[in-house]
Amino acid sequence: MKSFASDNYSGIHPEILDAIQHANTQHEISYGDDFYTAKALELFENLFGNVKVLYTFNGTGANIVSLKCCTLPFQSVICAETAHINSDECGAPTQNIGSSLLTLPTPDGKLTPELIKPLLTRIGNVHNTQPKVISISQSTELGTVYSIDELNTLCRFAHENGLYVHLDGARISNAVASLDVSLKKTTVDCGVDIMSFGGTKNGLMIGEAVLIFNDKLKENAPYFQKQTAQLFSKNRFIAAQFIALLTNDLWKRMALHSNRMAQLLATEVGKIPGVKVTRSVDANAVFAIIPTHAIEALQNKYRFYVWDEQTKELRWMCSFDTTEAEVMDFAATLRQLVEKGQ
Ligand SMILES: Cc1ncc(COP(=O)(O)O)c(C=O)c1O
Repeated sequence: MKSFASDNYSGIHPEILDAIQHANTQHEISYGDDFYTAKALELFENLFGNVKVLYTFNGTGANIVSLKCCTLPFQSVICAETAHINSDECGAPTQNIGSSLLTLPTPDGKLTPELIKPLLTRIGNVHNTQPKVISISQSTELGTVYSIDELNTLCRFAHENGLYVHLDGARISNAVASLDVSLKKTTVDCGVDIMSFGGTKNGLMIGEAVLIFNDKLKENAPYFQKQTAQLFSKNRFIAAQFIALLTNDLWKRMALHSNRMAQLLATEVGKIPGVKVTRSVDANAVFAIIPTHAIEALQNKYRFYVWDEQTKELRWMCSFDTTEAEVMDFAATLRQLVEKGQ
């Protein structure tokens, strides 16, 4: 099956699979007190400096653990309406942290101080949940990427207002590859307090890392991880994958490739009359509107989702293993279908 549906439709990168195999030789101490978890921590410290690292099975789990670290049950989380924590996690974050999400419509998936300010008018009022954290996604669910300036501004604003910054980094590799600056400069140096470092959408079999930079958030994190059923007894198999991901910049090589495939896809489909690329292609997602008669026929050959059922806006995701030939065939198929219907 050929797919542009999601970057988690892809398989496991061979170097990651080798790393799992390599970790499968002998007994190791369980629950993260093993050699591989220590080695992965060393690699994360080399990249980010002082950081506490915990692992989760999935991105939803990473968001729950992170937000739990930042909030008490009467405190709330500010996020974009399009944020995965709001639109695609079945209420898991709010169910687990016991409080609400304050959602904001955005033109491009990104939050700004101007958008957030109106939510901060009832601080100290016992009748209202108290905003405590701004949650952003990098790259966003709309395929856009916050610039360093935007991150600096947002984090400064958050801290001036007593708020933490949580970054949902399910696709942080794609965002950082796109910005072409170091992981550290685009996260902790901007003031991010806690983030996830995505694995599954960039070549891993399973696992995400929660990276905690703010010392205040570190102490309770392992207990929240355990209480939310995200502590893997055989953690070495997640850690081994991250060792491979962080070695020789595998994370970046894969992300650069999927971003490049998205650029190629946008360029090729953009040449077809009647096809409109609707959003800035900053990372590995392409959003587009095509003549409606072509949607189903195209889906018969390539899997993808209709992002917005009202407007029929489509989303196409590229992965580390998307090939140029697939992109060219996809665009050629779309052109044929569009022309057939004219
Ligand atoms: C931005 C973002 N965050 C979090 C997740 C959650 O990941 P999972 O499906 O592994 O829970 C996803 C998955 O699509 C995502 O796109």
